[in-house]
Amino acid sequence: MGIRNNSYDYGSIAKWLHWSVALLFLGSYISVYYRQWFTQEETPENWIALQLHLSIGVTIGALVLLRIFWRLTNPTPRLEPGSRLEHIATHTGHFLLYVVMILSPLTGYLGTGVNTEYFFLFEIPQFADTSFFTNIMQNTMGMTFKQFEEPIDFIHKEVLGEWLVWLLILGHALAALYHHFIKKDRTLVRMTTGNK
Ligand code: HEM
Ligand code: HEM
Repeated sequence: MGIRNNSYDYGSIAKWLHWSVALLFLGSYISVYYRQWFTQEETPENWIALQLHLSIGVTIGALVLLRIFWRLTNPTPRLEPGSRLEHIATHTGHFLLYVVMILSPLTGYLGTGVNTEYFFLFEIPQFADTSFFTNIMQNTMGMTFKQFEEPIDFIHKEVLGEWLVWLLILGHALAALYHHFIKKDRTLVRMTTGNK
């Protein structure tokens, strides 16, 4: 297996990026729901769970930038044979997954009113404290953080944070299993072991 993709197979970097982002997605959901369902406000656990959510989310954001760069500079393996409708569904699904992967960290970061203590190693300032927000949005455009945050939070929590994204990921994973066990093609294999 090479590092780069070719028209037949994903290379090791694309696989590594795909599976680490998938795992981090799981981590970001576990941390935020653990916080909401199993911790009390203003306890250390509540804060740690939130900070893990922010740290994992920021990591996803960074990996997704790398992933987009890698996707644009590598060939994308040709889809396995299927109907036109199946191919349109696959392309649409992958496109929507990219939309979610970009918008979730972005809206999370922009709308959050606390600094990110990145895995408790160093601090990333919240967007509201950056000079971009204070100089341009607040001083020049006269916008308060609350006005800015409301629609952004709505997208993060009420649109992307809802079951729609779960359905998308579930559909994507089920499609992979359908290819592997029913169509018996190389779709899952080329994103994992790469066997012939
Ligand atoms: C791919 C990355 C991310 C995913 C999938 C994600 C997903 C979610 C979900 C599902 C919720 C719960 C929504 C609800 O209340 O129903 C949430 C809440 C939240 N997210 Fe994210 N998020 C991501 C990245 C980020 C980032 C990068 C930040 C900030 C740096 C962030 C900050 C927050 C905050 C402050 C909340 C509210 C927490 C609470 O009310 O307990 N998120 N996110
Ligand atoms: C159990 C979970 C998952 C399984 C079994 C899975 C499986 C796969 C497989 C087999 C492919 C290759 C498809 C092809 O060759 O056409 C693929 C591609 C892809 N997957 Fe997943 N995946 C999972 C989770 C996720 C998650 C959580 C995301 C993002 C939120 C994601 C985003 C993508 C994207 C965007 C592609 C297109 C290729 C690329 O640009 O990297 N996957 N996935």
